[in-house]
Amino acid sequence: MENLIENTVEFVKKKLEGAEAGHDWFHIERVWKLSKKIAVTENCNVEVVELAALLHDIADPKFHNGDETIALHVSREFLEGQNVPENVIVQVIYIIKNISFKNRGEVPENIPIELKIVQDADRIDAIGAIGIARTFNFGGFKNNLMYDPHIEPKLNMSKEEYKKSNGTTINHFYEKLLLLKDLMNTEEGKQIAGERHDFMLNFLDQFYKEWNVD
Ligand code: ADP
Ligand code: NI
Repeated sequence: MENLIENTVEFVKKKLEGAEAGHDWFHIERVWKLSKKIAVTENCNVEVVELAALLHDIADPKFHNGDETIALHVSREFLEGQNVPENVIVQVIYIIKNISFKNRGEVPENIPIELKIVQDADRIDAIGAIGIARTFNFGGFKNNLMYDPHIEPKLNMSKEEYKKSNGTTINHFYEKLLLLKDLMNTEEGKQIAGERHDFMLNFLDQFYKEWNVD
């Protein structure tokens, strides 16, 4: 257990070699750092927070034919191999299972602080300048349109609709990114998200201005 965090970093880096740029090791590193930054403002188990931040995208269902169980198996196997106590493994797995935006309808309201922290960190990395860059990268990866003024955003999509959606990248702002600010769990998370939210609004203003050449 001695070098647990270091070993986890090495394991995750290896696993994510060749990943799409918005869900690669650098995304994990940012979420890990953001998680630690939020964790110092809350009373929580920092080891659980760090492990969950590092492992949360180890096998994203988006890139594994929708299979939501692989990440849980892979993480459990890794943590057992590191002799992590079962009660810690259970907490980490719970976070990986429930962190996702698309699963937000299924998570009970009273969630542990460690999940609140890592979820805020993951959502913060989905907004602001980095969020914009990741979203256009993902849209390009999927060969989606950047924007089409005739396609309306679809609000309140079901989980299945959300997963299948290949709407435009600009619509993804209305379908997800601009909703995240009000879904923040922690005070620190709210603060960071507020600034990044405003940056996205400015970006959209400028985007439409440049789109509508007059
Ligand atoms: P989670 O992993 O929390 O369920 P998502 O599956 O919504 O979150 O996706 C994570 C990131 O991938 C988003 O923040 C965004 O950058 C990108 N992404 C996901 N779906 C789309 C989409 N339809 N268009 C553009 N980017 C997307
Ligand atoms: Ni993530």
